[in-house]
Amino acid sequence: MCGIIGYTGNKDVTGMLLDTLEMLEYRGYDSAGIALCDTDGKIRVVKCAGRVKGLRNLLEDSHIKGNSGMGHTRWATHGGVTDQNAHPHRYGHITLVHNGIIENYKELNDKYQLQDMLCSETDTEVVAGVINHFYNGDPIDAIRRSVMKLKGTFALVIMFDDFPDTIFAIRNVSPIVVSSSEKGNILASDVAAVCQFSKDYFVLPELHTIMMNRESVKLYDLSGEIVEPEILTADWELGQNGKGGFPFYMEKEIMEQPEVIQKTIEGRILDGLPCFTEEEVTDDVLRDCNRICVVACGTAMHAGLVGQVLAHSVLGIHMDVELASEFMYADPVIDDQTLVIAISQSGETIDTLEALKYAKRAGAITLSIINVRGASIARESDYVIYTYAGPEVAVASTKAYTTQLAVLYLLTARMAFVRGILCEDDVKTFILELQQTPWAIRQVIQKRDQIHKMARRVLDARDTFMIGRGLDYSILLEGSLKLKEISYIHSEAYASGELKHGTIALITDKTPVVAMVTQKRLKDKEMSNIREVCARGAKVMLFTRESFEIGGIDEWSEVFELPDLEDLFMVLPASVALQLFAYYVSADKGFDVDKPRNLAKVVTVE
Ligand code: F6R
Repeated sequence: MCGIIGYTGNKDVTGMLLDTLEMLEYRGYDSAGIALCDTDGKIRVVKCAGRVKGLRNLLEDSHIKGNSGMGHTRWATHGGVTDQNAHPHRYGHITLVHNGIIENYKELNDKYQLQDMLCSETDTEVVAGVINHFYNGDPIDAIRRSVMKLKGTFALVIMFDDFPDTIFAIRNVSPIVVSSSEKGNILASDVAAVCQFSKDYFVLPELHTIMMNRESVKLYDLSGEIVEPEILTADWELGQNGKGGFPFYMEKEIMEQPEVIQKTIEGRILDGLPCFTEEEVTDDVLRDCNRICVVACGTAMHAGLVGQVLAHSVLGIHMDVELASEFMYADPVIDDQTLVIAISQSGETIDTLEALKYAKRAGAITLSIINVRGASIARESDYVIYTYAGPEVAVASTKAYTTQLAVLYLLTARMAFVRGILCEDDVKTFILELQQTPWAIRQVIQKRDQIHKMARRVLDARDTFMIGRGLDYSILLEGSLKLKEISYIHSEAYASGELKHGTIALITDKTPVVAMVTQKRLKDKEMSNIREVCARGAKVMLFTRESFEIGGIDEWSEVFELPDLEDLFMVLPASVALQLFAYYVSADKGFDVDKPRNLAKVVTVE
């Protein structure tokens, strides 16, 4: 959470910082601020509560100018959303921005007697105070001594009054990536932000200090030795970040799904069979584990639930899907025969990262499914399979989810093959069906006006239910999360057979119900459950498949027909239909679809 940036170069830093902060705003948008070295060599800070747009307006009337500076966009943790709590914070000779949480900030405050000079309620200002305490003219030494005292997670970008055109940074867990080119040296919270000048970048190793000015970038370990960074190359196009003519990133990202799913699967199919040789995921790993456990959060966890259905129904292997934030507190049963799969778009979600580390300590084999190259979770894992979703900017995840699903289908197929569960021909048939999914998604997208019409029916609703069984229920859990997070309508996904055990009491003629019916063996039972809610006056919007005879269309408020695929693959077109549904509700209600309230794209606090 929180987006940070530091830049030194030959560009005017103000516009550059503001543009990059706008790019990073998906990480938090409670407040924004910058600090820069002005032409007189003094560090100036401008900050305010609210969006980067507000900061831009504020800066329009100022005449500060410079070539080195840093910026921050905040997701509030300690202290409310106020101008004072906005970063950067200044204390003595130190100005800094921070992403993360300092758990022992109260003790530090007491120990170093900082309170008299504090202006905010943040943990960050205390860190500035601690660095100021240790500063005796040597920034690297002050940073090193200070971070030894910090407990928690942090990515810090620091400026010292005595070295106003030099940017320093250090991190523990929270990400910082760095890129260098003739246009300047830049560091930031994510790859998309630093790769505006060059595709080459490196991940700042934990507890290493970076010192950069216009001429050079130097990396030091904690003992003060210079370290050579490991350069990586971003594999997405630099120009991929715009909205592409759509009003919101979310719409653009929904539309991109056929293409990115295809990209994610095609390079991993050889002679009709799935293969992970490039990722060096050996068949032994997939054959020898006797249990699988997925750890993930939110949408990524919902992808895991679909993976669970695949593992059970195709492979007959036990798979647990655990909320990463609960994992280590549930005393999970793990050993060296357990394959733990971490799923994460950002690869930085701290709950997932900590769960993965816990699993490693317990001896598990770890594999991660990640979108952002070189992210922390990828680096911690024994094996990594990247999704090719490209940068996902909208806070609500869409294309990252469906590409995660694509990888799970491929993994299931490879496992079925190497374990001799499916014969070669059956695996090839499974893969052929997976290759049909981009086509099926295109069909849904083509008929999106119908979904828009359905969405208009829930604009005034306070609560909605989404009902279905089996795989349909897993799809709805994700569809319901999408609706909640961007439209602020309370929505509950419910296993439809369970309704009558209590929750049906909430169904009235004011409760719109979304029903999903895509699975042949569940259809009749699902239809009975739907009729039960209709009998209580509910207005039902039904998502089903073209080939299903459902009869009595008049009974339903609206019906959307999904293109036919084999049951297991209906997840993909159905999920895209629900993404569009949530999107239209939010857009029609006039919300900022890409930046729903209280949320951030990358969740780096526990
Ligand atoms: C919802 C959403 C979140 C994320 C979750 C995990 O639309 O995007 O629920 O899925 O915060 O994030 P990652 O995948 O980055 O680990």
